[in-house]
Amino acid sequence: MAQKLKMSRVGVWSRINKLRRQGLSIDASQNRGYRLAAEPDLLNQPLLEAWMRESGKTCKVFVHDEVDSTNSFAERLLANGEKGPFAVLANSQKEGRGRLGRSWHSPRGGNLYLSVGFKPNVDILKLRSFTLWQGIQIATLLRSLTGIEGISVKWPNDLVHDKGKVGGMLTEASIDCERVRSLVFGIGLNVNCPLKRFPSSLAKISTSLEDLKGESFRIHEIAAKVIKATLAGYAACLKGEAEKNLVGKWKELDALADRRVVVSGGKKKIVGTARGIDSSGALQLKLRNGRTKSIQAGEVTLKE
Ligand code: BTN
Repeated sequence: MAQKLKMSRVGVWSRINKLRRQGLSIDASQNRGYRLAAEPDLLNQPLLEAWMRESGKTCKVFVHDEVDSTNSFAERLLANGEKGPFAVLANSQKEGRGRLGRSWHSPRGGNLYLSVGFKPNVDILKLRSFTLWQGIQIATLLRSLTGIEGISVKWPNDLVHDKGKVGGMLTEASIDCERVRSLVFGIGLNVNCPLKRFPSSLAKISTSLEDLKGESFRIHEIAAKVIKATLAGYAACLKGEAEKNLVGKWKELDALADRRVVVSGGKKKIVGTARGIDSSGALQLKLRNGRTKSIQAGEVTLKE
């Protein structure tokens, strides 16, 4: 190792100790060298960067132990002139945000709290289905990475399985003259954190990759690959691929397909059968009178 890195053995040893102080568990064997014994559940910037190089797509990353919200952190970076794309990750969030003003429970260690910041400067229409499109990319990635076939997307921003919600996405944008000036795509993913660390009201509607598979996952690998999928999904969206392929791809992963649902928005509740989405991303709801209603926004729950 010393030869390869062109440094003294003492130099290697002191760097290994530095990594140990950062929480990495490294075995040493005389005359054979060092070995990463197990990957930590807490984020480590050099290890994440190594996984990102391995995954072949990199961007600047900001790793924190605790932040208010990775989305808010990314928004501040963009407002202060940081050029996208970049990723912000944290081991925990004090004020993690969900959709519709909800909070996102963000216990420390084992789960992913990630936001990717962009400076698109493109017409708003190009990004109108961005969250749905990214949901497809991430559900596809998680299926192939974990082998958990049942991971699906629930309109508009949930990653789900029959056993419960596994993750959620929150896209926030600053728009000026019909152009998206800055964009933050945030994702929270339940990976290894035990559900017993969730409040019981949340635990009963949630699941995690570990809960579904019965084994834990390498958080740095998942983070690197989710970042890669997010960057690739964004580039494809700007090229117009979302417009062409959204409806067809959504069908393959749609958790609500042909299910009886209740859509709530404000004081109104509408009951119908979910029939996919249209090319603008609106949920298509078949009503009892035979008509189809396009739903632009709302909260969907299963009727039965
Ligand atoms: C939802 O299902 O309502 C969306 C949840 C999005 C949570 C993620 S965690 C990382 C990023 N930072 C936040 O404050 N929210 C998103």
